[in-house]
Amino acid sequence: MTIKELGYIVLDSPDLARWGTYLQEVVGAMVSEGPDGSLRVRIDERDCRLLLRDSPQEKLAAMGWLVRDEAGLRQALETARAEGCEPRIGTADECIARRVNGFFAITDPAGHSHEIAWGPVVNFRQPFRSPAGVPAFMTGDQGLGHLVIGCEPAQFEATSRFTTGVLGLQVANLRAQSLSGEPVPFPITWFHADNPRQHSLGLAASFTPGAPRHGCRHINLEVPEIDDVGRALDRCDRHGVRIARSLGRHVNDRAISFYMASPGGFLVEYGCAAPRKDWSLEIVYDEGGAGSVWGHKPNPAR
Ligand SMILES: [Fe+2]
Repeated sequence: MTIKELGYIVLDSPDLARWGTYLQEVVGAMVSEGPDGSLRVRIDERDCRLLLRDSPQEKLAAMGWLVRDEAGLRQALETARAEGCEPRIGTADECIARRVNGFFAITDPAGHSHEIAWGPVVNFRQPFRSPAGVPAFMTGDQGLGHLVIGCEPAQFEATSRFTTGVLGLQVANLRAQSLSGEPVPFPITWFHADNPRQHSLGLAASFTPGAPRHGCRHINLEVPEIDDVGRALDRCDRHGVRIARSLGRHVNDRAISFYMASPGGFLVEYGCAAPRKDWSLEIVYDEGGAGSVWGHKPNPAR
């Protein structure tokens, strides 16, 4: 199947009120409440980029991957079945909630739910206006951003194979070896979709037994300029949101970013300045022990 972009994310949470305030006042997203009490979140012209559902457990419920059109979805469904998956077709109500025309769901070997969807609703009636004054989020043909998920080391290989073989994402680069002498605490593979964003998904072979199984390490959003990142740092300070990793620049997507805590327990990465990739010119490389050129120093929870 050909995944064009990361289109949406579904999150479950017992504290939607806290998420709503955080998303509007700190992240700068538009939030509206659906008839069932779920929150629909916008960061651009699309009607739903994050769907937050009321649930007893804080959890990454699904990643929404968009194919080009309905024919692309039919082809993806055939691929999923041929690869031995048991796809679940999304109901009409579920499509309405996600603001897409159709989707099916499959589960990877580590238990994460992936939804393959087509036909997202674009909201032409109400232009995107950030309640925190963020000028825009960098989405367009690159999708909403990226996310990093974790799995137990024993599931890493099978989950990586699923990501390329079933989802059809391609490896952008990886962090597997310690050839420089700097130890690699755990391997990560970065995957790109059929667009110029350096990665839409990261898979980390790291899971702490006993930790909450929300399945997500972080979600990344990109803004146009360093001043927009700086203003987000100021909003974190104003709202008492912990900066979990300091400002830094990643070696792979070259984004300048920082990581903030979120009500979900995982982090939100807020960055800018990631160049677009021409995949015909790239090869897969190992970033060794380095994740960042500079910065991204951890700031442990107190
Ligand atoms: Fe990231």
